[in-house]
Amino acid sequence: MSKPDVVTNAIGGLEVPRHVAVIMDGNGRWAAARGLPRSEGHRRGVEALRRTVRAAGELGIGFLTIFSFSTENWSRPASEVRDLMGLLRRFIRNDLAELHRSGVRVRVIGEREGLDDDVRRLLEEAEELTRANTGLTLVVAFNYGARQEIARAARRMAELVAAGSLDPQSINADALARHLDAPDIPDPDLIIRTSGESRLSNFLLWQSAYSELIFVPTFWPDFDRNALESAIADFGRRERRFGGLTAKVGS
Ligand code: FPP
Repeated sequence: MSKPDVVTNAIGGLEVPRHVAVIMDGNGRWAAARGLPRSEGHRRGVEALRRTVRAAGELGIGFLTIFSFSTENWSRPASEVRDLMGLLRRFIRNDLAELHRSGVRVRVIGEREGLDDDVRRLLEEAEELTRANTGLTLVVAFNYGARQEIARAARRMAELVAAGSLDPQSINADALARHLDAPDIPDPDLIIRTSGESRLSNFLLWQSAYSELIFVPTFWPDFDRNALESAIADFGRRERRFGGLTAKVGS
């Protein structure tokens, strides 16, 4: 069965999914297990993020989406929200040059409104600086919620209908997908969630219709290249049918 969504990797012939998305969960529990503050778990989470971005590039993954801050994360204590915003600022300030040097293209999905001006500017700067890069595309889901993204797409279409430039009869799934936050990015082939929780928590609900889901017990700060490779190997053993029949049965 052909798998157009995977590329065969030069390192070890691993079949690598074109787009991997990650729910980086378990920073708090990692810290609690060590008697450390949650902020330390998030700080170590950024190190895991650096390792994962590097590994994804080396493995030949085309797109890596990371769930960095969800719409629902605003309900955490103000001090933790401040920590997470501070980590994003530091991540961009410290790592952007290196990401750019390695050919990484940064994209951001999520609601920009409601973010501090300087955070919004940093996100825009990351996208602008790396726009023409041709290596790994790193999609940062920040202030992101999938239901809100779908509602935004519906609102954009409603505005076009009201302005007379969109025929309601032309609205179908493809049309809606074209109004999501990053319509040019392919759907994720594989979604990994760390920390043993088995749910999507409002992440990429539209785009995950046919994604393979892998839940690993590792807390995010312990995630590394081996863990990524092992999830990819697991992905390689899955049979994806996209609602059709298997090659064995159908042909
Ligand atoms: C989940 O752990 C993780 C987050 C809410 C945020 C993910 C953020 C990072 C990995 C670091 C920040 C990176 C950037 C670029 C901002 P949790 O706190 O929900 O852990 P718990 O479920 O064990 O409490």
